[in-house]
Amino acid sequence: MSTSPKKTGPDKAATDKSAPEKTGAEKIASEKAGADKAGPAQLHDPLAARQLDVDALIDDPETAIVVCCGSGGVGKTTTAAALGLRAAERGRKVVVLTIDPARRLAQSMGLTELDNTPRVVKGVGGTGELQAMMLDMKRTFDEVVLAHADPVRARQIMDNPFYQSLSTGFAGTQEYMAMEKLGQLQAEGSWDLIIVDTPPSRSALDFLDAPNRLGSFLDGRLIRILMAPAKVGGRSAMKFLNVGMSMFTGILGKVLGANVLQDLSTFVTAMDSMFGGFRERADRTYRLLQAPGTAFLVVAAPERDALREAAYFVDRLETDRMPLAGLVLNRVHSTGAPQLTAERALAAAETLESPDQEDGTASPEISAETEVLAAGLLRLHAERMQRITRERRMRDRFVSIYPDVPVVEVPALAGDVHDLDGLREIGERLNRR
Ligand SMILES: Nc1ncnc2c1ncn2[C@@H]1O[C@H](COP(=O)(O)OP(=O)(O)O)[C@@H](O)[C@H]1O
Ligand SMILES: [Mg+2]
Repeated sequence: MSTSPKKTGPDKAATDKSAPEKTGAEKIASEKAGADKAGPAQLHDPLAARQLDVDALIDDPETAIVVCCGSGGVGKTTTAAALGLRAAERGRKVVVLTIDPARRLAQSMGLTELDNTPRVVKGVGGTGELQAMMLDMKRTFDEVVLAHADPVRARQIMDNPFYQSLSTGFAGTQEYMAMEKLGQLQAEGSWDLIIVDTPPSRSALDFLDAPNRLGSFLDGRLIRILMAPAKVGGRSAMKFLNVGMSMFTGILGKVLGANVLQDLSTFVTAMDSMFGGFRERADRTYRLLQAPGTAFLVVAAPERDALREAAYFVDRLETDRMPLAGLVLNRVHSTGAPQLTAERALAAAETLESPDQEDGTASPEISAETEVLAAGLLRLHAERMQRITRERRMRDRFVSIYPDVPVVEVPALAGDVHDLDGLREIGERLNRR
């Protein structure tokens, strides 16, 4: 793909002499929370940012991988699925790797069983093809073990209770396995475009950090220490360990129970043969993410926390030299009556609600019931206008800190997105300007 990593926040900020310089995320975090009092929304403000051209991105034959990242609940899975559908309907052969699709969305894409392989999605128009899969992290871990160890050793590892908890519960396993799966799909070479959803971590950065963390856990010091006795051959080796160490393992043995310790050391001994493999694979996938055919889309809601996370991610991509395509600002609110400001709506509601006001606003033909209803609607409208103002302020803040990051806004739809039509609509909104 032609888009190279953009110059973003930190470099730009460096030209500003007011040291100590805040990061983009800090600037966003410092945005006042309850600032809605400050004036009405600027209506008719064209987005000052560069528009992100999503179709150009997914149509570009050079684009091979799109990674949708962002903090939890912002619409990563929805965006990934919508992009996959759109790209397929525009003629590309696409696979979408989803991590945690909501049940109805998964069903609508035919993802009823978690079998860890892509399946063709039915009901897709156009000349392309859409395949989709849901990540099964345990299965993916098993695949890695099977690929790295002979069958006997693989069994030994997989039967070990530590493996069971590592492969299902260890923080970071899901992120690691998402990357692993991405590497597998890419190596398979069956698709023009791979779209990757990322795990529902609190922080978007976990996706990049967790594999490394898991890697350091697997070849970390604690494990090497625990492994030492088993590795050099049981009790006879103990005399080579210093007193502190044997005390340490002794205490651990008491705390965890001797069996547990035995399990753990058997496990790490078996895993030892794979340490290199794990690292190597994580490194390879990391390099894949830096490759020119990869594009990151940061998804955020127009809210402070989500945009702060987005800012962290944008900075991080810059540092890691990973190509950022742009920001998807999802679930943006709008109104059908932009001329009516929050202030005027509130004032009108008050007038309607004040009894016996002879100011001409409430005419005698309007029943009291209608007045109450109208006042309620006016208040709702005022709330929405305040929300729009807040969202725009957050958006403008981000845009002013990252003027080179292309942005696209997707409106908040009335209901959840749970079928292909909903995904199509999101895809269309991603391209409406
Ligand atoms: N633009 C939108 N309008 C309305 N609902 C949306 C929109 N984008 C996402 N949603 C809904 O928000 C919820 C969270 O979206 P999801 O894609 O699962 O977020 P994430 O993967 O980031 O956790 C889902 O129920 C989804 O249908
Ligand atoms: Mg998700």
